Amino acid sequence: MKRKTYTLITLLFIIAGLIILPTACKKDPTSEPAVEQDNTPYILSYGSFPAPAITPDNLLSNAGVFLGRMLFYEPMLSKDGSMTCASCHNQNNAFDDTARFSTGVRGLKGGRQAMAIFNMAWNTNNFFWDGRAELLRHQATKPIQDPLEMDESIENVIAKLSSSQKYKDHFIRAFGSADITELTISLALEQFMNSIVSYQSKYDDFLANKVNLTPSENRGRKLFFQEYNQFIPDSSGADCAHCHSGFNFENDRYMNNGLDATFTDSGRAKATLNSRDVGKFKVVSLRNIALTAPYMHDGRFQTLEQVLEHYNNGVKASSTLDPAMEQTRATGLRLDVQDKLDLIAFLNTLTDQQFINNSEYTNPH
Ligand code: HEC
Ligand code: HEC
Repeated sequence: MKRKTYTLITLLFIIAGLIILPTACKKDPTSEPAVEQDNTPYILSYGSFPAPAITPDNLLSNAGVFLGRMLFYEPMLSKDGSMTCASCHNQNNAFDDTARFSTGVRGLKGGRQAMAIFNMAWNTNNFFWDGRAELLRHQATKPIQDPLEMDESIENVIAKLSSSQKYKDHFIRAFGSADITELTISLALEQFMNSIVSYQSKYDDFLANKVNLTPSENRGRKLFFQEYNQFIPDSSGADCAHCHSGFNFENDRYMNNGLDATFTDSGRAKATLNSRDVGKFKVVSLRNIALTAPYMHDGRFQTLEQVLEHYNNGVKASSTLDPAMEQTRATGLRLDVQDKLDLIAFLNTLTDQQFINNSEYTNPH
């Protein structure tokens, strides 16, 4: 090789060094900027809904919501690393499970159907079918420890997360400390779940005068909101909004909608130990209902047709049955085939495609 070539190669090495060295230096941990808490607020979009009831001691920050999202999709939360919250709360199904009874890491099934997770920020009356968790943060770590669900101890979860520098950094950003605790895990999950909002269904566009409903959807809408009237069949409705009311199609109460005459699952009474609550369950939102089959706390109905048939003709008497339903129990709602088709057409307008495709809620790992 000629001398000229040698000089050229040496020169190239020097230039490469000049480029590589400073970047290599940056990798030195001592010169890396320290990770700090970042309280930049998370901007929640919710259209024309009223302001949410988020607990002031855990307002949403970008860092907190993101950490909660990481945890929601984190297999380390389960004993054998096979399961995440999303295993039973799938975004495609409005964060609900398609299985009647979700299967936990031990292959065992619980006795209740999973619940859809959205618009939790407006929920002011406890969580679960029986309302046994007062705040989302109390709810959040229960599935981790439930032997029928993720079957893992909080100590183990903390140890696993603490062995990850990435997680420690995210806990610092969200809460100012790398010391991971049950509280900070549950606060992060609470923030993420509070950030999950569904407000852009066809029905919302209809309310905003952006689209029209089809004649069938519109008829279904009227039946849904209209009270039952046995004397004037022509203007008698299905009175669904008696309980599934307001912008979120629920009333924050626990009620008995006549599924059974005797109860294997005593529902709300499990949490309150009050016999007047036997057989009462949470009145859940009907938004995205087309995506969340099977239905009811025990997933007994596969289809919305079956649900309507229950309300139409299947309501069972018991001492805690809702009084309005008791009044219509004997006659039934007298919905004919077309009424049921129209009601289902209306329920389908509550599906929010933007929500289930929202990239802010997907697996961040
Ligand atoms: C094995 C399936 C399974 C896993 C895993 C699971 N859940 Fe659930 N989830 C359920 C079931 C079943 C219910 C209803 C339980 C009940 O009422 O007793 C539920 C209910 C809920 C509710 C109540 C919603 C409401 O409207 O009251 C929230 C919130 C929730 N889960 C969040 C989570 C979080 C957070 C995780 C992960 C830490 C998680 N779930 C993991 C099955 C699961
Ligand atoms: C008296 C109050 C009440 C009325 C009236 C009522 N519901 Fe419900 N609804 C409930 C309660 C409570 C539940 C949960 C019951 C359970 O799971 O045990 C429920 C559950 C549902 C579910 C299943 C939700 C899920 O995620 O599994 C659907 C669908 C539903 N109702 C539709 C309707 C329709 C349509 C009407 C009108 C024909 C109606 N409801 C009238 C109280 C009511």
